[in-house]
Amino acid sequence: MRQPPGAPLAHLDQLADTAALGVTLPDGRAAFLVRVHGRVSAFENRCSHRGVPLEAEPHRFLEAGGELIQCAMHGALFLPESGECVFGPCQGRRLVAIPISVDAEGQVHLAME
Ligand code: FES
Repeated sequence: MRQPPGAPLAHLDQLADTAALGVTLPDGRAAFLVRVHGRVSAFENRCSHRGVPLEAEPHRFLEAGGELIQCAMHGALFLPESGECVFGPCQGRRLVAIPISVDAEGQVHLAME
């Protein structure tokens, strides 16, 4: 669902530890949030290999171990803290990071807001 300007992207409760959530930014870009070991990060949902969405099923952005972001198309693996591709055809390139902040109530916002 596309978030209106100023609205939070999500609440931490939607991101149980080691979980992911697809969102649509107010400008219409597809993005996703991941929470790995309690740290939340966000990226555009566009693989740095072919520019396609990473997930094959809704909200499935992490590999089975829940530690790395995975592209379902060719299996590239990305670090959740930086978006750097560490395995696969785009190794060394990065996902486009979305700056976010988490407020005291656990709401996740775009950092520019
Ligand atoms: S399109 Fe993502 S690894 Fe090829």
